[in-house]
Amino acid sequence: MKISGSIEETRKQVKEWKAQGLSVGLVPTMGYLHEGHQSLMERARRENDRVAVSVFVNPMQFGPNEDYEAYPRDLEHDAAICEKAGVDLIFHPEVEEMYGPDFSAYVDMHTLPEKLCGASRPVHFRGVQTVVSKLFHIIPADRAYFGQKDAQQLAIIRRMVMDLNFDIEIIGCPIIREEDGLAKSSRNTYLSPEERAQAVILNQSLEEAMKAIEAGEKDAAKIRQLITDKISACPIAKIDYVEVVSFDTIQPIDKIEHPVLIAIAVYIGTTRLIDNRILM
Ligand code: PAF
Repeated sequence: MKISGSIEETRKQVKEWKAQGLSVGLVPTMGYLHEGHQSLMERARRENDRVAVSVFVNPMQFGPNEDYEAYPRDLEHDAAICEKAGVDLIFHPEVEEMYGPDFSAYVDMHTLPEKLCGASRPVHFRGVQTVVSKLFHIIPADRAYFGQKDAQQLAIIRRMVMDLNFDIEIIGCPIIREEDGLAKSSRNTYLSPEERAQAVILNQSLEEAMKAIEAGEKDAAKIRQLITDKISACPIAKIDYVEVVSFDTIQPIDKIEHPVLIAIAVYIGTTRLIDNRILM
């Protein structure tokens, strides 16, 4: 497995693979890899001749008061996980390699980034779209793999690829959970033991919502209320949002009609966690 911090070297390697007729899968990450990322790499491994993983904590997608500096980083740990998953190349650039001193181009869109995480993180999706576009140019892969935990991100990247004619297939992969149902996330490491125990409330509230929908509930407002009530009963949980939206447009809907995304963001103490259910 090769580790490169150079755009030129990485692009050359991927071009060589393509010239040999090999297919390439890309797993974009910010590192501190866990079983969620591992499942993306394993799927990429099954579906492609070569697998590249990018490990880059992208400053552009963090707001001024967010956790860019504190975001966990451990390349040695990441490299061991990649090696085990059969990854061929890790692209691990410095910030200066990705963003030169006069960097001034951005990729952005309207509508899809406005609600959910975009409402409380106004610059976030512009940063995600810009860095993912750059990664798609640096690593011209056949397929790129993203987790459904970041459902809004997945919807935005799909739309960006469609609207801007990127020649890459976007594969959404299921959420990987801890045994008690908490969605795996690099940010789970911020939780104290007490917070970690309470964090199951996110998945539990979504489970209750799904049961209500399975029992015939179609009113999106009632589903939102059910989730809000359940989370509000937890004293250290503070809701950022509870939304029921169309998975295509990320706009609120009144009736549960597929494809629907039920998405929540909740502060457990000072740690902001997200979770969701997608009904296709
Ligand atoms: O989902 C993430 O880890 C990041 O948003 C991504 C897609 C790697 C872009 O920095």
